[in-house]
Amino acid sequence: MESKTNSGSIETVIKESRSFKPSTTFIAQAHINDPAHYERLWQASQENPENFWEQQALSLDWTEKWKRVHEWNEPFSKWFTGGKLNVSVNCLDRHLSRHGNKKAFIWEGEDGTVTTLTYRELHQKVCQLANALEKKLGLKAGDTASIYMPLIPEAIIAMLACARIGVAHSIVFAGFSSNSLRDRILDAECKVVFAADVGYRRGQALDLKKTVREAVQECPTVKATLLLRRDKQTALVSQELDWNAFIEGQSSIHVPQSFDSEQPLFFLYTSGTTGKPKGIVHSSGGYLTGVTTTAKWIFDLKDSDIYWCTADIGWITGHSYVVYGLLANAATSVIYEGAPMHPHPGRIWEIIDKHKVTILYTAPTAIRSFMRSGDEHPKRFQLDSLRLLGSVGEPINPEAWMWYFELIGKKKCPIVDTWWQTETGSILISPIPGVTTLKPGSATRPFPGIIVDVVNDEGHSCKPNEGGYLVIKNPWPSMLRTIHKDPERFKEQYWSKFKGVYFTGDGAHKDEQGYFWIKGRVDDVINVSGHRLGTMEIESALVSHPRVAEAAVVGRPDELKGQGIVAFVTPRDSREKLDIHSLSRELKAHVVNEIGALARPDEIKFTKTLPKTRSGKIMRRLLKDLAAGKQVSGDTTTLENPGLVELIES
Ligand code: WT7
Repeated sequence: MESKTNSGSIETVIKESRSFKPSTTFIAQAHINDPAHYERLWQASQENPENFWEQQALSLDWTEKWKRVHEWNEPFSKWFTGGKLNVSVNCLDRHLSRHGNKKAFIWEGEDGTVTTLTYRELHQKVCQLANALEKKLGLKAGDTASIYMPLIPEAIIAMLACARIGVAHSIVFAGFSSNSLRDRILDAECKVVFAADVGYRRGQALDLKKTVREAVQECPTVKATLLLRRDKQTALVSQELDWNAFIEGQSSIHVPQSFDSEQPLFFLYTSGTTGKPKGIVHSSGGYLTGVTTTAKWIFDLKDSDIYWCTADIGWITGHSYVVYGLLANAATSVIYEGAPMHPHPGRIWEIIDKHKVTILYTAPTAIRSFMRSGDEHPKRFQLDSLRLLGSVGEPINPEAWMWYFELIGKKKCPIVDTWWQTETGSILISPIPGVTTLKPGSATRPFPGIIVDVVNDEGHSCKPNEGGYLVIKNPWPSMLRTIHKDPERFKEQYWSKFKGVYFTGDGAHKDEQGYFWIKGRVDDVINVSGHRLGTMEIESALVSHPRVAEAAVVGRPDELKGQGIVAFVTPRDSREKLDIHSLSRELKAHVVNEIGALARPDEIKFTKTLPKTRSGKIMRRLLKDLAAGKQVSGDTTTLENPGLVELIES
């Protein structure tokens, strides 16, 4: 990379908006490396996005060609209607003749164990499982199944087997509590649950079967739990089937059916501004078109690449850029079950050297913790196989960007800062590494075929550098189709704030060169380590505790995690003396039990009352300031109790 300025201090980076052009070596090998040509393509795609996406869809294998590229019944979109395909065939079968012996996945356990799966082996295992699901459990297209598993090959085999037979999967991150899992299974009416008895992380075995058993007990739709027994001691309980016995003797040939382009491929639950998680519904043809194209262009994928995305399959990043987008491109991926800094702080760098990883895709929160653990750790490793770096999940601060660029990428790897959401399915704003000049902290420009803007409260385009709301102005193939069982909420949440455009929930500004700078959420959603949590969801968990009268949850800036969770709680009057330390511990444990460890509040502040407006709305802005340790700012004259948030101290 060639830097435009010479000075290296962070202040200079921010003040002078330092920018980086791709290096000549990177350009020389990149798929897309002619800026003028790319600019023409980009302009044309802005004028006619459907044409751009139709061209991309042609790269997939369809058994029947679509009749229409796009049907828009605002805000409901259908893409490639009339077209038929099988997603698992596109990820596996079509690669077998050329890439049968190529590795699809290199799995590494925390203890250093390695298992690899070639495209042929993966295909056989998916076929076996698909056969067993159809023959033994009678699963068929339109059914749903839940997956609650650690990051191991079987979890991916389960995803692809579902896709192969038209069953929509709903993966629940194996860190959510049994209540969360139960609610998601019930909402999606899953017939089968794929599970593992244990997961391994930070040297410990996590008891996943306990969570699954508690959840499934209250789920009448579940016919069977398919349990992968990793620990020899694990015994089966009623309703559970042993995974290996289940697939034993099944043929590794499975003749696939084709499904409609709009067949739901999966549901993925994510937090919103109300207490109840939303089941985001993704399609088959449009989704696969989006993830396949973006993976190829943004990661500049080559046959020789060893790609590593550190996300878990429980999140959208794992769905799109560990599984579907990568397999559809016949790529080789590393997957790792374990913590990136365990058993030593250089574990991630060790894995990169060991497998000669060429592309690393990770989150700013992880980058900041690597930074904090000390430069000596990455310096112990070569890291010379790397040629491209990626970032996702939250805004990356220029300091972390520069560290990633200099220390990990050795100033020769472009960084693709990719903006997208669970709902968008695929990346919508990102550099194209062989042509885009990078600016640390900016996700740069929209992907071709995506029309993005920043608008003010009235929905008018903001001026350059003026802050506003980030919106997407045209439908795109991989966008969510609806919220499962709740089309009204889908309309309300995304399509009602501004007429005819998709509201992202993010604040942003666009600079003079059309680069987007994303600030973060403007709604009641907090982003902790790149994972989205609704404040209302945590509040409902808190008020379900008998000693809580009222609760308000806000995010506060956190150097490592992006945002931390602060809860303001008004306890119920009780005869017992209030021991705020023990109640605080109890309430944190309660939230973990209700939602999962990722929702654990960092701090609970007890208050005599919560600040409210005269109409009874909690003054969140004020609480946010308080949580961040700021002077309470702005207008508090509408407060019911001006100036009064009386904290109960110990
Ligand atoms: C929210 C979506 C997309 C996969 C991971 C998170 C924030 C995501 C970036 C980025 C700034 C980002 C946004 C977005 N976000 N990527 N590159 N720069 N912010 O998925 O849980 O659906 O969260 O993550 O606030 O709305 P998600």
